[in-house]
Amino acid sequence: SILIVDFGSQVTQLIARRVREAGVYSEIAPFTTAEAAFARMAPKGVILSGSPASVLDEGSPRIPQAILDSGVPIMGICYGQQVLMQQLGGNVTLGESGEFGHAVIEVTDDCVLFDGVWKTGENHTVWMSHGDKVSALAPGFRPVAVSPGSPIAVVADDARKYYATQFHMEVAHTPDGAKLIANFARHVCGLTGDWTMAEFRAAKVAEIRTQVGSGRVICGLSGGVDSAVAAVLIHEAIGEQLTCVFVDHGLMRTGEAEQVVSLFRNSYNIPLVHVNAEDTFLAGLAGETDPEKKRKFIGGAFIDLFEEEARKVGGADFLAQGTLYPDVIESVSFTGGPSVTIKSHHNVGGLPERMNMQLVEPLRELFKDEVRALGMELGLPQAFVGRHPFPGPGLAIRIPGEVTKERCDILRKADAIYLEEIRAAGLYDTIWQAFAVLLPVRSVGVMGDGRTYDNVLALRAVTSTDGMTAEAFQFPGDFLPRVATRIVNEVKGINRVTYDYTSKPPGTIEWE
Ligand code: XMP
Repeated sequence: SILIVDFGSQVTQLIARRVREAGVYSEIAPFTTAEAAFARMAPKGVILSGSPASVLDEGSPRIPQAILDSGVPIMGICYGQQVLMQQLGGNVTLGESGEFGHAVIEVTDDCVLFDGVWKTGENHTVWMSHGDKVSALAPGFRPVAVSPGSPIAVVADDARKYYATQFHMEVAHTPDGAKLIANFARHVCGLTGDWTMAEFRAAKVAEIRTQVGSGRVICGLSGGVDSAVAAVLIHEAIGEQLTCVFVDHGLMRTGEAEQVVSLFRNSYNIPLVHVNAEDTFLAGLAGETDPEKKRKFIGGAFIDLFEEEARKVGGADFLAQGTLYPDVIESVSFTGGPSVTIKSHHNVGGLPERMNMQLVEPLRELFKDEVRALGMELGLPQAFVGRHPFPGPGLAIRIPGEVTKERCDILRKADAIYLEEIRAAGLYDTIWQAFAVLLPVRSVGVMGDGRTYDNVLALRAVTSTDGMTAEAFQFPGDFLPRVATRIVNEVKGINRVTYDYTSKPPGTIEWE
């Protein structure tokens, strides 16, 4: 295994993901508890993360001495490089100006990290993000790559098996970064790369049993993939100690709520309380047009209804949630304080405080595609696991302006046609998310001999790897006109269809 020492970088989880992709088990430990984690895990390698801190600040994080004394291979990234240099006898000085963003490095020497990836003399793009500079290498190190801003973009000490990069190799902006991490895991640490989702499953099952003991767990299903995968995994771990509650707000797509209910009750035989609360939600949304107020109402009503059901089943000691890593970083900044609220996501926060229960969140370190792989591993049907992400507040945030039953029904019909065409064209799995948005705008049209004055629909489809950034999907030329024609002909209430080309950032994926 590999231990990742977290110095507080926003992208530490990406390091873990890259290590998993290389087929190697890893755990992340904050620097404060890294020594204990190191002793417990006896890892074959250690990776040091970046950090918002400066090694020059008093009290800034350090590598536990026991790790340096152990003789285990170490790779430092960004702050990890600086702190490694400083603790081993090098020197770090305040950068006059930092390097941020794309940089081109030149490979100046052979290095095991570059095996099969980079050759001496080549130039490669990497992602830099640092202020301070290593001004003197620690004894034993040699530079193996340089950048215009730095003579030590990558340094190596082969005798001790210590390596360090100034750039972030874990982010997608360093195109070859994943391969460098895999080389560290396999060629430096000698790990075989045969770790799989099956082992993740087994490890999580054991972890859930330890955490929960003989306690009772209640899990809120949203109807989506994440909470369903979490529930099935937890059920595997603790069986009848788990109760699932599906608060159905009636703001789902055509047929999707029914699929979840049937999956749990019929395929998995997991006890499920299905609360049909469409009327409550529509009544509460009546007259509301502000996006955040809509989100807050739905989140709040969801919690109320969930709490009521939890009381009915006799309460629980733990609350299970299908929180994923991107939910965690978009909601909380690395300092633990709140970052700017772009949108109030309704799957994180709120519930745990109110219900005073401990959380069970087995998917917290995973990215969406990894959750899908875990779902397949657990035997969930591909058609379910491969479903596009769907927001907790459902269609309410795809109907800017007031949400009514009538508008939900119009949107559901149009959305179903759009998705049917996407599936028929074989494009569903290449798109991250596709959906329709019913705009609070009416336009004039002509149908037959008559004038129409009806709603405008926007179609959206994006590609993404984690929902944090996204690009508009480019459909083949005849696709959108065909869908537009079908929707206007088949859905009463819509007479115009547009396509949204905005990427994220500056847009967001959902409209509200
Ligand atoms: P945005 O619109 O913020 O969405 O770019 C990013 C991803 O998150 C989904 N989303 C949500 N998921 N609860 C969720 O579980 C929410 O409240 C929520 N709001 C947005 C969105 O569909 C996209 O995949």
